[in-house]
Amino acid sequence: STATNIAQKKFDNCIMNASGVWCSDENELTELDRSEASSFVTKSGTLQPRKGNPQPRYFPTSLGSINSMGLPNQGLDYYLEVVNRLQQRKPHKNYFVSCTGFNVQEDISLLKKVAVSGFTGVVELNLSCPNVPGKPQTGYDFETVDNILKTVFKSYKGPLGVKLPPYFDIVHFNQMAQILNKYPLAYVNSVNSIGNGLYIDDTQEQVVIKPKNGFGGIGGDYIKPTALANVHAFYQRLNPDIQIIGTGGIKNGRDIFEHILCGASMVQVGTALMKEGPDIFARLTRELKAIMRDKGYEKIADFKGKLQYI
Ligand code: DHB
Repeated sequence: STATNIAQKKFDNCIMNASGVWCSDENELTELDRSEASSFVTKSGTLQPRKGNPQPRYFPTSLGSINSMGLPNQGLDYYLEVVNRLQQRKPHKNYFVSCTGFNVQEDISLLKKVAVSGFTGVVELNLSCPNVPGKPQTGYDFETVDNILKTVFKSYKGPLGVKLPPYFDIVHFNQMAQILNKYPLAYVNSVNSIGNGLYIDDTQEQVVIKPKNGFGGIGGDYIKPTALANVHAFYQRLNPDIQIIGTGGIKNGRDIFEHILCGASMVQVGTALMKEGPDIFARLTRELKAIMRDKGYEKIADFKGKLQYI
């Protein structure tokens, strides 16, 4: 079985989409709901709907992707309505709603909307969008992360996790884990895209996306080692009741196996879902099950976090 638990809720399968991919409107969310993924997370909802950055703003490459979407979304109210409607049809399923404010007051307003909507699922607070011109990635400002979590947990009582950017220094893993351990987080999701890469077309001698003169978040094969490092660093450091969701560079069953070995309880798929569409979840599930069968593992707990050192 590839079943797992997040926030004391049961999921039939440990594989789902990453926020931002195939989750921007009711049609896409309905397709995910019908797929082999056990759940979905919505595009990050903001207080007001947003058009996002000018196009082209997503470009697939042979090893992954670059994007500078700029948080195009229909507004949090829309996602709460859609998810609450799907939830009524499938009371046994559990869903995630992602949201992101532009400051701590906005985060509080967003979570107030979640609470009054009657949403019974899990909130993913996105602290890591790299693509809004002039706005730094919150997850790189440690004092602000601490302040947001302090304020959020005073008012919001439902299960909540955070989506973090990748970190690249052991001292940063230590400092961020020390902050996260102060709060009753359901989970930490590592990693968002590696921010502000630059992919260029040397034939055209040109960038491939329009916003920010071509700079954008990198996903796919490029980021798997960074993702695994972040998953394992937080697995080693966080209080064991804060679970890990692993995101970054997953395109086959082996990638999922590696994320779980590093400590992930659930995994999310971004770039590869964009390339293949929601049928990818059937393939990934089949591939993970084949690896588990070969290795004699019956369940996720048999190998979760059991990475060996030399
Ligand atoms: C966007 C990209 C992200 O990586 C993220 O976490 C949120 C938003 C975007 O550009 O829309």
